[in-house]
This record gives sequence, C-alpha cells and structure tokens, in this order.
Amino acid sequence: MALTEADLKNLPETGIDPVNPGKYQGLLEDLQGNILKGHGREHSVHLFVQWKPGQIQGAKEWIQAFTRTYVTSAKQQADEALRYKQEGIAGTIFANVFFSRKGYEALEFEPFQVPKDQPFTMGMKNSQIRDFLGDPEVKQWEVGYQNEIHALILIADDHLLKLLQAVNQITAKLRQVAIILHREDGFILRNQAGQVIEHFGFVDGVSQPLFLKRDIVKAQTNDSDFSQWDPRASLDILLVKDHNGKTEDSYGSYLVYRKLEQDVKAFRADQQKLAQTLNINNDLAGALVMGRFADGTPVTKSDIPTYAVTPTNNFNYDADVDATKCPFHAHIRKTNPRGDTGRVESSPGFDEALAVEKNHRIARRAISYGENDTNQAPQTGSGLLFLCFQANIENQFNFMQARWSNPDRFVQVGVGPDPVIGQPEGTQKWPKKWGEADTQEYGFKLWAFMKGGEYFFAPSISFLTHLG
Ligand code: HEM
Repeated sequence: MALTEADLKNLPETGIDPVNPGKYQGLLEDLQGNILKGHGREHSVHLFVQWKPGQIQGAKEWIQAFTRTYVTSAKQQADEALRYKQEGIAGTIFANVFFSRKGYEALEFEPFQVPKDQPFTMGMKNSQIRDFLGDPEVKQWEVGYQNEIHALILIADDHLLKLLQAVNQITAKLRQVAIILHREDGFILRNQAGQVIEHFGFVDGVSQPLFLKRDIVKAQTNDSDFSQWDPRASLDILLVKDHNGKTEDSYGSYLVYRKLEQDVKAFRADQQKLAQTLNINNDLAGALVMGRFADGTPVTKSDIPTYAVTPTNNFNYDADVDATKCPFHAHIRKTNPRGDTGRVESSPGFDEALAVEKNHRIARRAISYGENDTNQAPQTGSGLLFLCFQANIENQFNFMQARWSNPDRFVQVGVGPDPVIGQPEGTQKWPKKWGEADTQEYGFKLWAFMKGGEYFFAPSISFLTHLG
C-alpha cells in the first residue's frame, strides 16, 4: 500500500532503518541518494548543462542510460555505507540528476508535469527572487551561471582519479546531446584532526535534520539524549511526491544550489580586529561570529573550545535569552534559533513557535571548492558549493536567507545581519567588484559572495529511467 501523509509525518522513534525499511522500502529504492543523508564522498564534480534543442530524444536516452548506470538510490547508498563500515568495501561512483524548471520544459514536458514549488518555477535569476534574497544582479554572476541551466549532474567518488576518468567518459557522450555550460569540482576540506571544515576553518555539517536510524543512534550516543535539541525530523520537510514517478512511492526533493565564494583573508583580518576591539582572543572572536568555535563547540555552552571529536548538538539558547554568550546575529543562531522565536512578544507560545521554526530546517549537503591547503588565506577562487534539500523552497531556504539571515531585526531590533551569509537588504547595494565590500563605503560587510545558482528538483529514479 502506498505511503500516506501520516507515514511521512510519523517516522519510527529511531528513524527509517534502510536495513529493515518495512513500508519505506519502495520509497528508499526510488528516491535519489544524497537527500536523506549526504553522499559523503571526498570529491565531486558538478556539471551544469543545457540540452541541445535538436537532440531532445537523444537527451532523454542519455538520461535514462546514465541513471541506470550511475544514479544511486537512497537504498543503495545506505547499503554501500553499511558494507563499507562492516567490510571496508568502497562504494561505487555516486551520481545524481537534478532538473531546473527550464530543464523540464526543454525536455518537452507538459506544464502539469513540472513540479509546482513557486521559487522553483520562477528560477533563481528572477528579479523578484533576487530582490527577496538580496542576490547580486545576474550580470555580476560567474559567466557559466548566467546561461539558462537545464540540469545539474553530480558525480562523486572517494578516489579522485577514478572520478575524473568516469567524468571524462560521461562527458564524451553527454556532449552529443547537451552543452556543458559550467563545471565545478568540489572536495571535502578537513582540519588536522580530520574533521570536515569550511574555508574559514570551522567544523561544518554538524547540525542537520536527521531521518535515518544510523544517524539518529549516532547522535544519541554522542549527546546521550536529545533533552535540549532534538535533531530528528519528519519526511514532510524534505520530500514531495514525484507525480511523474512510476511507483506508488515515488518521491523527490527540491534542491537549492548556490556558489558562495569566501574571502578567507578578509575574514581572518576582521576576526583579529574584533578580538582586539573586544579584548578577547581570536578563537572567541570567531565563535561570536559563527556561534560555534572552530572546533564546533557551541559558544553558548562554553567560552573555550572543548575539542570534542564530534561536537555536541544538544543545546539551545534557553540559558542565554539575552544573548550575552552567543550573539543573536551569530550564523548558527540566525539559521537555527532553537526556540528564540517563541520568546518574542507576538509569539503564539514557545512550543508552537518551536514547531513552526523546525519546519524551516534544510538538509545541507555543501562541499568546498578551490584551495585545499588550509594554511593559505585565499581572497578569491575558494568557497562553498552550497546545496540544500527541502520540500518547500519558499518556507525553507528562502525564508532562512531572507527572513532570518539578512534582516537587521530578527528576534530583536538591531541585531544586525548574519555576518557569514547575510546579504544586502532594500537600499543596501552589492559592491561593484568582488572583494570591495567595506562597511563604510557600502554600509555592508561581506565575506561570502554569491556567484550564481539555481533551483532544481531531484526526480525519482523511476521517472528518470522511463523518460519517454
Ligand atoms: C560560505 C557560506 C557558509 C559558511 C562558511 C557556513 C558555515 C557554517 C558553519 C561553520 C556551521 C556550524 C556547523 C554546523 O552546525 O554544521 C554552519 C551551520 C549552519 N548553516 Fe551555514 N555556512 C554557510 C552558508 C550557509 C547558508 C547559505 C545557509 C542557509 C541559508 C546556512 C545554514 C546553516 C544552518 C541551518 C546551520 C545549522 C545551524 C544549527 O542547526 O545550529 N549556511 N554553517
């Protein structure tokens, strides 16, 4: 019997177990990997393509063949991860196929077959969307992203050489039916302790909504309980039915993709300036910006790094309601206020507000690009290929960026924008050239620059293998 809305909403206490999936078996087999859990491969190649107008049938055939050979289902991803853990056997090449709205149209699908999410329908280049998010004009984006993008093909593996060889083979055929507009190569950046970090040097990917048993058990073991923050989430914040799918449990998810270039040199210089101004050490200055120390320790819980192998995620701001430990504007407090919205006067009540807040969560699947020597401090050419999945772009990524991160007021008046990803609002303007951001001249400070992006949908596998 097909899954119901209640089945999406009420997962087992410990999440879905891909080894024993029960009624979720069909869903796991037809859903693309990387959605319920990040693919975790060390290297990934992202190809942004436009189907050639005279080659639509060929494009459909290429997609079908590519999907059969490479696209990894959620079930296969979980099985491979288990085999790797138990027997040390590495997984196969991992791949995803994502379509933009224009991609569906170019493949000649009828309007009723195109996923309905509004920002997805409008596209990221749309001026209303850009105004809402505070994004720069399209002519300021990297050239590859200025074109009409139809699909994003993601190919990943732990072994760089194997990956590059596969990409060479794949692109040889792909070029017959599509123009490869742009390519981004990503990799997992790590600190000396082997933890995943981003270019500013902070441990990343710690706090995520969790859906699968293995992740939930791991989080529970690390944090002993979920008394202050429960990371579990229901499938309705992540998945929507794929009406084009060929099974009764065909699901997909909306993907937000953004290239965010990081000015590491400026970040480090400003971190030092902040430390001097406040007469505190550099570590704490960084933690006040991010909300966690570079090692992942939440600054609301400790005023020094604790160097935990896996940083805690079992915390909230109940003991820091005046933000004396973690500023309201800190990146992680803005993007996950953990109950703060229940403390404002207009709030319907703490628990209700928290439940609403939790529906804005996104499944982040970002990967770094550019310089991989962490001793360098690049100003350009390095950053984050930001990817996140959700069921409703308007209510999740767009809301988080435009209603929480960008505004000067959130929870309280005058807290300022999120210093990591906050973008100009209203009359504030983007600098004309990258790297020119300066508080005095532009009234806005930027360490991360949006260089281009698009909204995509991750269709079910049975749709991809049956394109007519
Ligand atoms: C260059 C850009 C970015 C950098 C350097 C960055 C860095 C970080 C770091 C270091 C963390 C803390 C570790 C963790 O919990 O995973 C974090 C958490 C987070 N980030 Fe970002 N991030 C960036 C872009 C974004 C964007 C564009 C969004 C969405 C609008 C976002 C949303 C989040 C969320 C939701 C969390 C988890 C907060 C929590 O649950 O405590 N980030 N980010």
